[in-house]
Amino acid sequence: MCGIIGYVGGKQATPFLLEGLRRMEYRGYDSAGVAVANGGAVVTCRAAGKIARLESALAATPVHGTVGVGHTRWATHGPPTERNAHPHASADGTVAVVHNGIIENANALRAVLQGKGYEFRSDTDTEVMAHLVQELFEGSLEDAVINALREVEGTYGLAIVSSRDPGKIVAARKGSPLLIGIGDGEHFLASDASAILAHTRQVVYLDDGDVAVVQADGYRVLDRDAAPMSRRVEKIDWDLSAIERGGYAHFMLKEIFEQPQTVENAMRGRLIVEDGTSKLGGLNLSHEQLMAIDNIIITACGTSWHSALIGEMMIEELCRIPVEVEYASEFRYRNPIVTDRTLCIVISQSGETADTLAAMREAKRRGARTLGLVNVVGSTIAREDDGGIYLHAGPEIGVASTKAFTSQVVALALFTLKLARKRGLSVTRGIEFAKALAALPGQVREVLDRAEQMEHIAEEFKRSPNVLYLGRGVNFPVALEGALKLKEISYIHAEGYPAAEMKHGPIALIDEMMPVVFVAPHDAVFDKVVSNVQEVKARKGTVIAVTSRDEPALAGLLDYEFRIPETVDLLMPVLASIPLQLLAYYIAVKRGANVDQPRNLAKSVTVE
Ligand code: F6R
Repeated sequence: MCGIIGYVGGKQATPFLLEGLRRMEYRGYDSAGVAVANGGAVVTCRAAGKIARLESALAATPVHGTVGVGHTRWATHGPPTERNAHPHASADGTVAVVHNGIIENANALRAVLQGKGYEFRSDTDTEVMAHLVQELFEGSLEDAVINALREVEGTYGLAIVSSRDPGKIVAARKGSPLLIGIGDGEHFLASDASAILAHTRQVVYLDDGDVAVVQADGYRVLDRDAAPMSRRVEKIDWDLSAIERGGYAHFMLKEIFEQPQTVENAMRGRLIVEDGTSKLGGLNLSHEQLMAIDNIIITACGTSWHSALIGEMMIEELCRIPVEVEYASEFRYRNPIVTDRTLCIVISQSGETADTLAAMREAKRRGARTLGLVNVVGSTIAREDDGGIYLHAGPEIGVASTKAFTSQVVALALFTLKLARKRGLSVTRGIEFAKALAALPGQVREVLDRAEQMEHIAEEFKRSPNVLYLGRGVNFPVALEGALKLKEISYIHAEGYPAAEMKHGPIALIDEMMPVVFVAPHDAVFDKVVSNVQEVKARKGTVIAVTSRDEPALAGLLDYEFRIPETVDLLMPVLASIPLQLLAYYIAVKRGANVDQPRNLAKSVTVE
């Protein structure tokens, strides 16, 4: 959600800023802008809409200079217009600010600044920071920023340039990620490693409370009292191909097709088939601590919340430990029962989702141990949890989450296996589960080999105004996930329901116009699902079913069928979710929707 880029070095800044913004466009794409320190002045160029609009504006009116910051925005305060686009300049034009996050006391600060004669030109909370830095400027830019931050409440990733202290970018982080990229005679600043990967792999992740001074020949990290801090240089271990489309029409399609590999990567070096268990290096949970867990809370948002529901069923089934799944946004404002024998599992692709991060902090505050299932290495949740399991799915650029979901389910399965074996699961059952996990990458490949079938099915439903998704047991969350995928990228209204719950209301919606997607592999509740299919057919609904074998009981009941391979019941979601990803993708493409940048959405929701 929103992206920040900065460049300081010996070359023109604008091309670096634009390239970084293009690479981060998936984080926010309703407006963008750059500010470049150009001799005695800071020149700003902004545009509403996609980065391409900013590029045209810059082509018409180029800005020159070797220090600059840029921003791509997902609007929170004020509509996505040019005047609300970042960077925001101070009243005298000497300071330009880009900001991710929310300044919570912006109204109060605005009133004080207006009282001093400052005129505001935007509806944003960010603009107060620009005026505040101007107001408090004496000495260096970093001193002014540190003084300004003393007045500010809220969250921020900030990058600021000023003509009064040229040759540097001052950055500050609290609750919104920022990293410094180390180049040769040049340095970068970014909210997202993908923005600078083409130029360097050496990065320094800033911590909350850090203020950084970034210059061509070096950088310094300070604390909020300007005392120097030391931060480790880390290496980004994926390469440029991971963040490029590589011949696919969309990132989402590329990421769907990466799943044989990403599912395998999630297990690599961790699954011990012969012992029917797993080895998870980053858990930081001793045998005694694993044995002492009384209950587990899993908290997450969106797609990650769906994988949490699957995790709940796995853990309860195999470990016999009570599990509760909570939307992170609800958990953080409740009064949940947490003890020092509670394990709180936090699931997040980005590792930056504001609600999930806050829920994790709340669980910690109440005494729980926290375990993060995170994809983005070095992200805030990964840095703050007590232990973690990285998903190793590689960067997920498509706004709709796909490969991260299946990797989350696999990571949950690995954790379940380890815990279950400690808590009494027999080695025979452990080996059976481990073998099923090991077979998944090949089975995912088999599903993808049939993608074309789903493309044909999608053709039939591209004009449907509504779609219902039904599943039972562990496939109910798959139905929820299928519905979420469809609605977010195609804008078709879709609902996921437990198949039997349909009778208690949604069945009223069923007529010949209503397609119903059943997630109906052959599992322990299959016979029950058949009854639900019959209920839909009796009301003339159109049935699309994801099945796993020839089912005489379904003869004559299905309008469309997509076959997936069989695995143990608890792992079915990994295979069953993929056809639904494909269905959503193809429907959205056929409707002409922008699949990688759906309206109103952005990757990584870093505001409440
Ligand atoms: C849906 C989607 C979102 C995210 C949610 C949580 O396709 O991507 O629902 O799953 O915003 O994001 P993370 O997992 O980054 O915490």
